[in-house]
Amino acid sequence: MQKKLIWDIPLRLFHWLLVIALLSQWITSELGSEYMDWHFYIGYFTLGLIIFRLIWGFVGPEYARFSQFIYSPKIIWQYLILFVKGKNPKYTGHNPLGGLIVPAVILLVGAQAITGLFASDDVLSSGPYMSAVSSETQGMLDGLHHQIFNLILAIAGIHIVAILWYQFGRKIPLIGAMFSGKKADTEGKSIGSSKVLRAIIFAIIIAIFLYWLIAIAAPTPEVEYYF
Ligand code: HEM
Ligand code: HEM
Repeated sequence: MQKKLIWDIPLRLFHWLLVIALLSQWITSELGSEYMDWHFYIGYFTLGLIIFRLIWGFVGPEYARFSQFIYSPKIIWQYLILFVKGKNPKYTGHNPLGGLIVPAVILLVGAQAITGLFASDDVLSSGPYMSAVSSETQGMLDGLHHQIFNLILAIAGIHIVAILWYQFGRKIPLIGAMFSGKKADTEGKSIGSSKVLRAIIFAIIIAIFLYWLIAIAAPTPEVEYYF
Protein backbone atom coordinates (compact mmCIF):
# COMPACT_ATOMS: atom_id res chain seq x y z
CA MET A 1 0.00 0.00 0.00
CA GLN A 2 1.21 3.52 -0.80
CA LYS A 3 2.52 5.59 2.13
CA LYS A 4 0.49 8.67 3.00
CA LEU A 5 1.58 11.86 4.75
CA ILE A 6 -0.37 12.02 8.04
CA TRP A 7 1.78 13.95 10.57
CA ASP A 8 2.79 17.38 9.29
CA ILE A 9 6.35 18.70 9.70
CA PRO A 10 5.50 21.34 12.41
CA LEU A 11 3.70 18.68 14.49
CA ARG A 12 6.69 16.32 14.28
CA LEU A 13 9.11 19.13 15.14
CA PHE A 14 6.87 20.05 18.07
CA HIS A 15 6.96 16.47 19.33
CA TRP A 16 10.71 15.87 19.20
CA LEU A 17 11.62 19.38 20.37
CA LEU A 18 9.25 18.88 23.32
CA VAL A 19 11.01 15.63 24.24
CA ILE A 20 14.44 17.33 24.04
CA ALA A 21 13.20 20.41 25.96
CA LEU A 22 11.70 18.36 28.82
CA LEU A 23 14.87 16.30 29.15
CA SER A 24 16.99 19.46 29.15
CA GLN A 25 14.75 21.06 31.80
CA TRP A 26 15.14 18.04 34.00
CA ILE A 27 18.92 18.00 33.60
CA THR A 28 19.41 21.78 34.03
CA SER A 29 17.25 21.83 37.17
CA GLU A 30 19.32 19.01 38.68
CA LEU A 31 22.69 20.55 37.79
CA GLY A 32 22.17 23.53 40.08
CA SER A 33 22.32 27.31 39.90
CA GLU A 34 25.12 27.54 37.31
CA TYR A 35 22.75 26.09 34.73
CA MET A 36 19.66 28.07 35.76
CA ASP A 37 20.06 30.55 32.88
CA TRP A 38 19.75 27.65 30.47
CA HIS A 39 16.77 26.35 32.47
CA PHE A 40 15.06 29.72 31.99
CA TYR A 41 15.79 30.03 28.26
CA ILE A 42 14.68 26.48 27.49
CA GLY A 43 11.65 27.05 29.75
CA TYR A 44 10.57 30.06 27.65
CA PHE A 45 11.11 28.00 24.52
CA THR A 46 8.96 25.19 25.98
CA LEU A 47 6.20 27.70 26.75
CA GLY A 48 6.42 28.76 23.09
CA LEU A 49 6.10 25.13 21.97
CA ILE A 50 2.95 24.69 24.05
CA ILE A 51 1.33 27.91 22.77
CA PHE A 52 2.17 26.75 19.25
CA ARG A 53 0.52 23.33 19.73
CA LEU A 54 -2.58 24.99 21.16
CA ILE A 55 -2.93 27.19 18.07
CA TRP A 56 -1.97 24.35 15.71
CA GLY A 57 -4.85 22.34 17.16
CA PHE A 58 -7.17 24.82 15.43
CA VAL A 59 -5.27 25.94 12.32
CA GLY A 60 -2.98 22.96 11.53
CA PRO A 61 -3.59 20.23 8.92
CA GLU A 62 -6.36 17.71 9.49
CA TYR A 63 -4.75 15.22 11.90
CA ALA A 64 -3.20 17.98 14.05
CA ARG A 65 -6.63 19.43 14.87
CA PHE A 66 -8.36 18.84 18.20
CA SER A 67 -11.61 18.18 16.35
CA GLN A 68 -9.89 15.11 14.83
CA PHE A 69 -8.82 13.36 18.03
CA ILE A 70 -10.79 14.65 21.02
CA TYR A 71 -13.53 12.07 21.57
CA SER A 72 -16.33 11.74 24.14
CA PRO A 73 -15.59 9.76 27.35
CA LYS A 74 -17.98 7.05 26.07
CA ILE A 75 -15.97 6.48 22.86
CA ILE A 76 -12.68 6.57 24.79
CA TRP A 77 -14.06 3.90 27.14
CA GLN A 78 -15.32 1.72 24.27
CA TYR A 79 -11.91 1.99 22.60
CA LEU A 80 -10.19 0.98 25.83
CA ILE A 81 -12.42 -2.10 26.19
CA LEU A 82 -11.69 -3.18 22.59
CA PHE A 83 -7.97 -2.58 23.08
CA VAL A 84 -7.86 -4.66 26.27
CA LYS A 85 -9.68 -7.48 24.44
CA GLY A 86 -6.77 -7.52 21.97
CA LYS A 87 -8.54 -5.76 19.09
CA ASN A 88 -6.82 -2.95 17.19
CA PRO A 89 -9.42 -0.62 15.70
CA LYS A 90 -7.59 1.43 13.06
CA TYR A 91 -7.24 5.20 13.23
CA THR A 92 -5.38 7.31 10.73
CA GLY A 93 -4.54 10.04 13.28
CA HIS A 94 -4.48 9.60 17.07
CA ASN A 95 -6.76 6.92 18.50
CA PRO A 96 -9.30 8.10 21.14
CA LEU A 97 -7.04 7.11 24.05
CA GLY A 98 -3.72 8.21 22.54
CA GLY A 99 -5.13 11.62 21.58
CA LEU A 100 -5.51 12.42 25.28
CA ILE A 101 -1.75 13.00 25.48
CA VAL A 102 -2.18 16.29 23.61
CA PRO A 103 -4.52 18.11 26.08
CA ALA A 104 -2.63 16.49 28.99
CA VAL A 105 0.69 17.87 27.75
CA ILE A 106 -0.75 21.30 26.95
CA LEU A 107 -2.24 21.58 30.45
CA LEU A 108 0.63 20.13 32.47
CA VAL A 109 3.66 21.39 30.55
CA GLY A 110 1.90 24.75 30.08
CA ALA A 111 1.30 24.97 33.85
CA GLN A 112 4.90 23.93 34.50
CA ALA A 113 6.29 26.68 32.27
CA ILE A 114 3.91 29.34 33.68
CA THR A 115 4.62 28.47 37.34
CA GLY A 116 8.34 28.58 36.44
CA LEU A 117 7.93 32.30 35.67
CA PHE A 118 7.17 32.78 39.39
CA ALA A 119 9.64 30.22 40.80
CA SER A 120 12.83 31.00 42.70
CA ASP A 121 15.69 28.94 44.04
CA ASP A 122 15.89 31.47 46.93
CA VAL A 123 19.54 32.12 46.14
CA LEU A 124 20.54 33.42 42.72
CA SER A 125 17.80 32.74 40.21
CA SER A 126 14.20 33.89 40.08
CA GLY A 127 11.62 33.73 37.33
CA PRO A 128 10.81 37.15 35.82
CA TYR A 129 7.40 37.36 37.50
CA MET A 130 8.49 36.34 40.99
CA SER A 131 7.99 39.83 42.42
CA ALA A 132 4.60 40.28 40.72
CA VAL A 133 2.75 38.28 43.39
CA SER A 134 2.63 38.10 47.19
CA SER A 135 5.19 35.84 48.86
CA GLU A 136 2.46 33.30 49.81
CA THR A 137 1.29 33.06 46.19
CA GLN A 138 4.92 32.89 45.05
CA GLY A 139 5.59 30.02 47.47
CA MET A 140 2.50 28.19 46.27
CA LEU A 141 3.46 28.57 42.58
CA ASP A 142 7.03 27.49 43.36
CA GLY A 143 5.63 24.40 45.10
CA LEU A 144 3.47 23.63 42.07
CA HIS A 145 6.52 23.98 39.82
CA HIS A 146 8.08 21.11 41.78
CA GLN A 147 4.96 18.93 41.96
CA ILE A 148 3.62 19.26 38.41
CA PHE A 149 6.90 17.92 37.07
CA ASN A 150 6.16 14.57 38.74
CA LEU A 151 2.84 14.43 36.88
CA ILE A 152 4.64 15.21 33.61
CA LEU A 153 7.05 12.34 34.30
CA ALA A 154 4.08 10.06 35.01
CA ILE A 155 2.21 10.83 31.78
CA ALA A 156 5.44 10.70 29.76
CA GLY A 157 6.12 7.25 31.24
CA ILE A 158 2.62 5.95 30.46
CA HIS A 159 2.84 7.43 26.94
CA ILE A 160 6.21 5.81 26.19
CA VAL A 161 5.13 2.39 27.55
CA ALA A 162 1.90 2.58 25.49
CA ILE A 163 3.78 3.52 22.30
CA LEU A 164 6.28 0.67 22.84
CA TRP A 165 3.38 -1.73 23.40
CA TYR A 166 1.70 -0.74 20.11
CA GLN A 167 5.03 -0.88 18.29
CA PHE A 168 6.39 -4.20 19.56
CA GLY A 169 3.40 -5.90 21.24
CA ARG A 170 0.80 -5.15 18.59
CA LYS A 171 3.22 -4.61 15.69
CA ILE A 172 1.68 -1.25 14.76
CA PRO A 173 4.58 0.94 13.57
CA LEU A 174 3.74 4.27 15.23
CA ILE A 175 7.29 5.41 16.05
CA GLY A 176 8.60 5.55 12.47
CA ALA A 177 5.53 7.61 11.50
CA MET A 178 6.38 10.26 14.13
CA PHE A 179 9.73 10.67 12.30
CA SER A 180 8.74 10.36 8.64
CA GLY A 181 5.17 11.63 9.01
CA LYS A 182 4.03 8.76 6.78
CA LYS A 183 1.80 5.76 7.36
CA ALA A 184 1.30 2.88 4.95
CA ASP A 185 -1.45 0.81 6.39
CA THR A 186 -4.22 3.37 6.58
CA GLU A 187 -7.56 4.08 4.96
CA GLY A 188 -7.60 7.80 5.70
CA LYS A 189 -6.52 10.46 3.22
CA SER A 190 -3.12 12.17 3.15
CA ILE A 191 -2.88 15.76 4.43
CA GLY A 192 -1.33 16.98 1.19
CA SER A 193 0.68 19.86 2.69
CA SER A 194 2.40 20.48 6.06
CA LYS A 195 1.41 24.18 6.02
CA VAL A 196 4.98 25.12 6.94
CA LEU A 197 4.65 28.80 5.99
CA ARG A 198 1.60 29.15 8.24
CA ALA A 199 3.55 27.49 11.07
CA ILE A 200 6.49 29.90 10.60
CA ILE A 201 4.17 32.92 10.75
CA PHE A 202 2.62 31.69 14.01
CA ALA A 203 6.07 30.84 15.41
CA ILE A 204 7.24 34.42 14.76
CA ILE A 205 4.11 35.88 16.41
CA ILE A 206 4.64 33.62 19.44
CA ALA A 207 8.34 34.61 19.67
CA ILE A 208 7.37 38.32 19.65
CA PHE A 209 4.73 37.67 22.33
CA LEU A 210 7.26 35.83 24.53
CA TYR A 211 9.81 38.62 24.10
CA TRP A 212 7.21 41.11 25.23
CA LEU A 213 6.12 38.89 28.16
CA ILE A 214 9.62 38.26 29.47
CA ALA A 215 11.76 41.22 28.47
CA ILE A 216 9.25 44.10 28.39
CA ALA A 217 6.16 43.42 30.51
CA ALA A 218 7.85 41.60 33.40
CA PRO A 219 8.33 43.67 36.59
CA THR A 220 11.89 44.93 37.23
CA PRO A 221 13.63 42.68 39.78
CA GLU A 222 13.78 44.37 43.18
CA VAL A 223 17.28 43.40 44.27
CA GLU A 224 20.24 41.40 43.04
CA TYR A 225 20.61 39.65 46.36
CA TYR A 226 23.72 38.35 48.08
CA PHE A 227 26.25 40.12 45.81
C1 HEM B 1 11.39 8.78 23.24
C2 HEM B 1 10.20 8.62 23.68
C3 HEM B 1 8.96 8.89 22.85
C4 HEM B 1 8.50 8.23 21.76
C5 HEM B 1 9.13 7.05 21.04
C6 HEM B 1 7.25 8.86 21.38
C7 HEM B 1 6.47 8.48 20.31
C8 HEM B 1 5.28 9.06 19.96
C9 HEM B 1 4.44 8.61 18.87
C10 HEM B 1 4.75 7.43 17.97
C11 HEM B 1 3.37 9.42 18.81
C12 HEM B 1 2.20 9.31 17.83
C13 HEM B 1 1.10 8.52 18.49
C14 HEM B 1 0.01 8.19 17.51
O1 HEM B 1 0.31 7.67 16.43
O2 HEM B 1 -1.16 8.47 17.84
C15 HEM B 1 3.51 10.42 19.86
C16 HEM B 1 2.65 11.46 20.08
C17 HEM B 1 2.81 12.37 21.08
N1 HEM B 1 3.77 12.35 22.08
FE1 HEM B 1 5.35 11.12 22.16
N2 HEM B 1 6.98 9.89 22.25
C18 HEM B 1 8.00 9.94 23.16
C19 HEM B 1 8.13 10.82 24.21
C20 HEM B 1 7.21 11.78 24.52
C21 HEM B 1 7.29 12.65 25.68
C22 HEM B 1 8.39 12.61 26.75
C23 HEM B 1 6.22 13.48 25.62
C24 HEM B 1 5.85 14.55 26.61
C25 HEM B 1 5.30 14.26 27.75
C26 HEM B 1 5.45 13.15 24.42
C27 HEM B 1 4.31 13.78 24.01
C28 HEM B 1 3.58 13.45 22.88
C29 HEM B 1 2.49 14.24 22.37
C30 HEM B 1 1.96 15.56 22.95
C31 HEM B 1 2.01 13.57 21.24
C32 HEM B 1 0.92 14.03 20.31
C33 HEM B 1 1.58 14.74 19.14
C34 HEM B 1 0.70 15.83 18.58
O3 HEM B 1 -0.40 15.56 18.10
O4 HEM B 1 1.15 16.98 18.65
N3 HEM B 1 6.09 12.11 23.77
N4 HEM B 1 4.67 10.16 20.55
C1 HEM C 1 8.09 23.43 30.99
C2 HEM C 1 9.25 23.92 31.29
C3 HEM C 1 9.91 23.64 32.62
C4 HEM C 1 10.18 22.45 33.22
C5 HEM C 1 9.89 21.05 32.69
C6 HEM C 1 10.83 22.74 34.48
C7 HEM C 1 11.25 21.79 35.41
C8 HEM C 1 11.83 22.07 36.63
C9 HEM C 1 12.26 21.10 37.61
C10 HEM C 1 12.11 19.58 37.43
C11 HEM C 1 12.78 21.75 38.66
C12 HEM C 1 13.38 21.13 39.92
C13 HEM C 1 12.31 20.92 40.93
C14 HEM C 1 12.79 20.15 42.09
O1 HEM C 1 13.99 20.21 42.42
O2 HEM C 1 11.95 19.47 42.71
C15 HEM C 1 12.72 23.16 38.37
C16 HEM C 1 13.17 24.16 39.20
C17 HEM C 1 13.15 25.49 38.89
N1 HEM C 1 12.64 26.06 37.74
FE1 HEM C 1 11.79 25.09 36.19
N2 HEM C 1 10.93 24.11 34.62
C18 HEM C 1 10.38 24.68 33.49
C19 HEM C 1 10.30 26.03 33.22
C20 HEM C 1 10.80 27.02 34.01
C21 HEM C 1 10.77 28.45 33.71
C22 HEM C 1 10.14 29.06 32.46
C23 HEM C 1 11.38 29.09 34.75
C24 HEM C 1 11.65 30.54 34.94
C25 HEM C 1 11.70 31.43 34.00
C26 HEM C 1 11.78 28.10 35.71
C27 HEM C 1 12.42 28.36 36.90
C28 HEM C 1 12.79 27.43 37.84
C29 HEM C 1 13.45 27.77 39.10
C30 HEM C 1 13.82 29.16 39.58
C31 HEM C 1 13.66 26.56 39.76
C32 HEM C 1 14.31 26.35 41.11
C33 HEM C 1 13.20 26.27 42.13
C34 HEM C 1 13.71 25.92 43.51
O3 HEM C 1 14.87 25.57 43.66
O4 HEM C 1 12.87 26.03 44.42
N3 HEM C 1 11.42 26.84 35.23
N4 HEM C 1 12.14 23.33 37.13
